[in-house]
Amino acid sequence: MVIDRESIERDLREYLDSDVRFILDVGGYILNGGGKRLRPILVLKFAKAVGGYIPENTYPIAYAMEYLHTASLLHDDVVDGSQTRRGRPTANIVFGNPTCVLTGDYMYSLALYLFSIYGDIDMIRNVSNSVKKMAEGQLLELKRIGDINTSMEDYFKIIEGKTAVLFGSCCYVGTGTVSKIQDLKDRAYKFGLNMGLAFQIVDDVLDYTADPGKLGKTVLNDLREGKMTYPLISILSNLNQEERDFISKLLKDVDPVEEELLKARDIVVKHGGIENSIRKAKHLVNIAIENLRDLPETVEKRELIEMATFIVEREF
Ligand code: IPE
Ligand code: IPE
Ligand code: MG
Ligand code: MG
Ligand code: MG
Repeated sequence: MVIDRESIERDLREYLDSDVRFILDVGGYILNGGGKRLRPILVLKFAKAVGGYIPENTYPIAYAMEYLHTASLLHDDVVDGSQTRRGRPTANIVFGNPTCVLTGDYMYSLALYLFSIYGDIDMIRNVSNSVKKMAEGQLLELKRIGDINTSMEDYFKIIEGKTAVLFGSCCYVGTGTVSKIQDLKDRAYKFGLNMGLAFQIVDDVLDYTADPGKLGKTVLNDLREGKMTYPLISILSNLNQEERDFISKLLKDVDPVEEELLKARDIVVKHGGIENSIRKAKHLVNIAIENLRDLPETVEKRELIEMATFIVEREF
């Protein structure tokens, strides 16, 4: 079977099945916004790249990973108070926070249920560990809000948890549907983990540099919320006292004015924060790709390499 975007879209709606109309409304709303579907595509491509075919049960497992991602977005937009996602008002703006939190819970549970039917205990162990780390990453991020002393070490702990482990798990479970060889699953996980770290660094760059129309999200949101990300952390030691004091005050401001956010962005850009971040992301993508070394030279392997490369070049 081929990996076909249309059937992914159709099946994502079908497996969402619930007797509660509201779940379908909210779930349908966020699914209809589009999204890159990187996570299910990773699951399917890994199955094909490692096993040479895609078993039937790989599909619901791929969708389960997109439901986990969607649940995390529903919760993330509540936590971040975000107004725009995928080019539309966020679900929390349209349906309210309580509904989004509960629909997110439904999607987490649906994913677990799909794993119990179509997966195995090793996949469940890997994925549930990742979901646990996602919550830890998000909580750590929350604790560091407004803190100019957020270190690179803190930052990597945060992004590994909130973003990278889920990418790792996608590659792990995709491989797990065609192989029981632990080493293959572990290398797939490392590919996803490093790609996921790069992915979040680029997400953080886009928060500084993107065209909001293309990105589908508002920009400078991280600074607005007092979050230190790679571009800023990487240039902190280059700042003079005045710049440092300005940034420190801005991070603590709960409702900063646009002009100050733009000034902070100029400081980050001027000191090379964007270049530093892209360099780091490219390095991590190379580490990710290294883990594919021993896979046979197939179309899917080439596409996985292209996906990892796209991560750094993307504008949305
Ligand atoms: C957004 O993920 C959340 C992050 C981990 C940065 P994506 O950029 O993959 O979101 P969609 O699914 O394509 O909208
Ligand atoms: C992404 O963090 C992490 C999760 C969605 C779990 P962000 O808060 O940076 O994601 P966006 O930018 O809102 O998509
Ligand atoms: Mg967010
Ligand atoms: Mg967030
Ligand atoms: Mg972001």
